[in-house]
Amino acid sequence: PAKVRIHHLARAKEEGRKFTMLTAYDALMAEVFDAAGIDTLLVGDSAANNMMGHATTLPITVDEMLVFSRSVAAGAQRALVVCDLPFGSYEESVEQAVRTGVRFMKEGGAHAVKIEGGAYYADHVRALVNAGVPVIAHIGFTPQSEHALGGYRVQGRGDAATALIDDARALEAAGAFCVLMEMVPAEVAAEVDAALDVPTIGIGAGSATTGQVLVWQDMLGLRRGRLPRFVKQYADLRSVVHDAATAYREDVVSGAFPAQGQSF
Ligand code: KIV
Ligand code: NA
Repeated sequence: PAKVRIHHLARAKEEGRKFTMLTAYDALMAEVFDAAGIDTLLVGDSAANNMMGHATTLPITVDEMLVFSRSVAAGAQRALVVCDLPFGSYEESVEQAVRTGVRFMKEGGAHAVKIEGGAYYADHVRALVNAGVPVIAHIGFTPQSEHALGGYRVQGRGDAATALIDDARALEAAGAFCVLMEMVPAEVAAEVDAALDVPTIGIGAGSATTGQVLVWQDMLGLRRGRLPRFVKQYADLRSVVHDAATAYREDVVSGAFPAQGQSF
């Protein structure tokens, strides 16, 4: 199948079609999602939480992200691979942002990057795009600013809606090919989508966005604990894996595994 390109995502919005994104951090899951027709794979800095066990996305480094990015790029055939610029890898200057973005394209095999932040980062986005690095802008709730925002909270409510729309417009004008919104009221996300020519992606942002994204460990029920309200769980992988590991342990202890068929 033909590779997904950024112009295909633009066309989806023009033609009123939806597209999909899932996070991926390794080659095998990337391969499975790609074969299932998921259009875009996000090497999210949520790898800090879901792969490395950190409490927030803040600690993950560029070098760590590069390992996940390379792995996903190796597993993807059709999907567009987007990699997050992690906390501390772009904020200082447009030069720092370009340097990091280029590394993800050159060493990480990414096809695009995602950067958190509003209109303030328009210059960073413009410089990345000029360097040949396609950019998704991430607005609304931005997990790298969890402490600045005072925890996981819906953004863009009430008067803040205007600022969110202004941010989205500035980032589009700077050359972002897509704007991702996290935890934004559905009607505000719809307004942002209507204000932009470029496609939008939502997570906890209602159904008006062009695309939707979920973290795979949430979507497949691997993660323990209470899920955010915006997650729909499509499988219970935690039980599947737990039960399989238990059956294996019992077989080894009882001597049922390995049997003759598994022996030489
Ligand atoms: O890192 C991530 O998984 C993300 C998505 C939640 C959009 O940025
Ligand atoms: Na992220």
